[in-house]
Amino acid sequence: MYDFTTPIDRTGTGSIKIDFAPEPVKGSGLVPLTIADQEFAVAPPIREAIKAAADRGIFGYTYADKAYRSAVNGWMMRRHNWDPSGFKLVTTTGVVPALSLAVAAFTEPGEGVVIQSPVYMQFAHAVRINGRRIVENPLKNVNGRYEMDYEDLDEKTRPDDVKLFLLCSPHNPVGRVWSREELTRLGEICIRNNVLIIADEIHNDLLMNGAQHTVFASIPGMAEHSVTCTAVSKTFNLAGLGCSNIFFADPSLSEKFKSLSDRFGSGLVPYFARAATIAAYEESAGWVDELNDAVYKNFLTLKAFIAKELPMLSVTELEGTYLAWVDMRALGLDNKALEKLTLDHGLALDEGYLFGENGSGFERWNLALPAAQLDKALSRLKAAVDSLKLSSFDA
Ligand SMILES: Cc1ncc(COP(=O)(O)O)c(C=O)c1O
Repeated sequence: MYDFTTPIDRTGTGSIKIDFAPEPVKGSGLVPLTIADQEFAVAPPIREAIKAAADRGIFGYTYADKAYRSAVNGWMMRRHNWDPSGFKLVTTTGVVPALSLAVAAFTEPGEGVVIQSPVYMQFAHAVRINGRRIVENPLKNVNGRYEMDYEDLDEKTRPDDVKLFLLCSPHNPVGRVWSREELTRLGEICIRNNVLIIADEIHNDLLMNGAQHTVFASIPGMAEHSVTCTAVSKTFNLAGLGCSNIFFADPSLSEKFKSLSDRFGSGLVPYFARAATIAAYEESAGWVDELNDAVYKNFLTLKAFIAKELPMLSVTELEGTYLAWVDMRALGLDNKALEKLTLDHGLALDEGYLFGENGSGFERWNLALPAAQLDKALSRLKAAVDSLKLSSFDA
């Protein structure tokens, strides 16, 4: 049994979530619900490995050596039934830089890159910052559950200048774990239309209630047409260590990607990230199982609270990630008013519109936090919504 209940004070550590929080909610009363890192202490074997690495006293250049590669491959085989040993591995300082590198490496300025909004905001950013064109294939909200729109995808990927598809799997922020059938269908459309798939699978281990993640590249016929992005950062709460694993089945793709990454960064594995990754993948599986249980319990608490106390709101079923997607459109507030309402009641959330226009009226909740902190946030949510009733009553 690991500890998923004790709050840890991160004030003054340079934490973006805590120290860079919006002014009205900054300070000791902050409930940490925004940016996607966890409020849980890292698994003990990882902390031990980092301490041992620190005790050596030399923090030199390190690379993806045999021990590193074996830990990564072993995890993928045991956890995801996928053997990446025949794939070329390129490490980057994060999946976000890898997305940007992929856009730059595999498309030309002005060409189209498909994203499925609402989606993690860095997807749109990676396209824009490289001077490429965003092609929207919005997800469909079918009674609160999100699905892909294949007809629209086929139409949008047919033009010759649409070259790349950024897949979020599992999906941040709508919490879907895409099924093998869904992924196959999307892959077939992209391959038919000559579109390369960049599969961001950073949330691959964060699976709720028995959901099963399918590695896109493990589907027959998909590996050569895709790039797989993974990392220890989300699963094991190691975002500050800066290391991701990008897999290529097609060596011509890895060469293009690597030559660009060599120009702007390095393919090294940071010293502490190497030690942490090996300890994570080889010794911390049990911790991940308990993490998923803790997050799913929090999700059930959130869902039950909304059903009982605030039935005009709703939350999308959480299949994967630790990020819940709450529909607050029934309050009838525009983006600014909704943000003000929550902040005024001490709640810093990730605003839905940041994930795309069709995210307006939603809020993303980070559920990787002790249950007592979530309870505090739920009381604040209730107070916020009740304040609206009062003011409309007064009016
Ligand atoms: C889908 C997705 N990709 C990438 C990242 C961040 O990747 P990194 O920290 O490795 O750059 C996140 C963080 O929330 C994410 O949700």
